[in-house]
Amino acid sequence: MMNSPKTFRVKSFGCQMNVYDGDRMAELLGSAGLTAAGDGDEADLVVLNTCHIREKAAEKAYSDIGRLKRDDGSRPMIALAGCVAQAEGAEAKARSPMIDIVVGPQAYHRLPQMIAAVGSGGRPVDTDMPAISKFDALPARRKVGPSAFLTVQEGCDKFCTYCVVPYTRGAEVSRPLADILVEAHALVDGGAREVTLLGQNVNAWTGTCGGLDGLIRALARIDGLERIRYTTSHPADMTDALIAAHGEVEKLMPYLHLPVQSGSDRILQEMNRSHTAESYLRTIEKARAARPDIAISGDFIVGFPGESDEDFTQTLSIVDAVGYASAYSFKYSARPGTPAAVMGDQISRDIMDQRLATLQDRIIAHSLAFNRSKVGADTQILLDRKGRIPGQMIGKSPWLQSVHVVTDATVGTMLDVTLTSAGPNSLGGALRTAAAA
Ligand code: 5AD
Ligand code: SF4
Repeated sequence: MMNSPKTFRVKSFGCQMNVYDGDRMAELLGSAGLTAAGDGDEADLVVLNTCHIREKAAEKAYSDIGRLKRDDGSRPMIALAGCVAQAEGAEAKARSPMIDIVVGPQAYHRLPQMIAAVGSGGRPVDTDMPAISKFDALPARRKVGPSAFLTVQEGCDKFCTYCVVPYTRGAEVSRPLADILVEAHALVDGGAREVTLLGQNVNAWTGTCGGLDGLIRALARIDGLERIRYTTSHPADMTDALIAAHGEVEKLMPYLHLPVQSGSDRILQEMNRSHTAESYLRTIEKARAARPDIAISGDFIVGFPGESDEDFTQTLSIVDAVGYASAYSFKYSARPGTPAAVMGDQISRDIMDQRLATLQDRIIAHSLAFNRSKVGADTQILLDRKGRIPGQMIGKSPWLQSVHVVTDATVGTMLDVTLTSAGPNSLGGALRTAAAA
């Protein structure tokens, strides 16, 4: 039997939706009377909020559990949460006997009861996808940073052949408009000036005000909310109405994360992506027509089964055609239970390594070009953290670039700056004063 924990730590891996879930678990544990362990302090309860998207991410969960054993042989109470918990359920406990609680992404509002069950000798597993949404059971949002996440949609009906998300996060579900507005108001009251709407397929959101464009327009009416972003989008759900919002809603930031995965139509078809390279490029063109300065970001997978040199060359071509401001690229990882895992012609590690390096070089060149194109621009940044050098702060530009600036202003300030220098990952800025303007 274990004593009831007094302190906790939540460690989140993977996507922003996990960061959001991790924050909400911490709020929930706080309202249940536990205290967050300080940096470097040992916690009585450790929640590992895991990612299952690639094999490496999933394995990390287990190596982290091993490291929680203390020198004296004792260990904290351990809750395995997130997508590994969802995917493996009770099997996870068989793999690691140190796990006390297994809780999926739709069931974590029940953590306090599960902790109590461990206290009385249980080892609960809850990977239900309950009809009553966790959102109704979680405590209201309170104090948050200047830039907050807000999950508005979960799950995925797209079934890309490489991806575990439809299995770990279930079918596409949209949160109701009224609930989202309540949470957005609470975030703004709690200190947020920027809100990023989250969903595995955020642009598939639907509600009483229509699609995501309607939601964005409704949120834009909230006083004190100054910036709106959303991620991640699927090209198939990129409606003309959403694109039009980019030209019309001032608070909607000029940034679009639109994964393409590959530039080869043959591979896109094998991936079950429901778009072609050309239809994707047309969407980007429309977005740029609506909002000429929009920064485009994307995701790529190299080494999908059957990917030839020619297919990969087409991926490099689409990178050049789009001119990404930034992009994430990954080596294909075969995930158990997905159709692609059993496809023939799996690509060797060496080829994947080479292709990834080539792709990343190409993306970096475009990021650098994009960032340099902004040098000299007057813009605003929202300060979100301290820099490494004393007196330096870091904030985000409308195009989601990190901008370093020397200032006395504190986190949460919206600062007028001129962008003065650029690297591939960040820019330098100088304060714009009334006199200089
Ligand atoms: N292997 C490698 N990358 C993957 N992604 C999703 N599934 C896999 C996989 N099996 C990537 C996609 C997606 C991003 C979140 O992760 O690029 O857009
Ligand atoms: Fe990882 Fe995907 Fe789950 Fe997010 S939804 S935690 S990226 S597997």
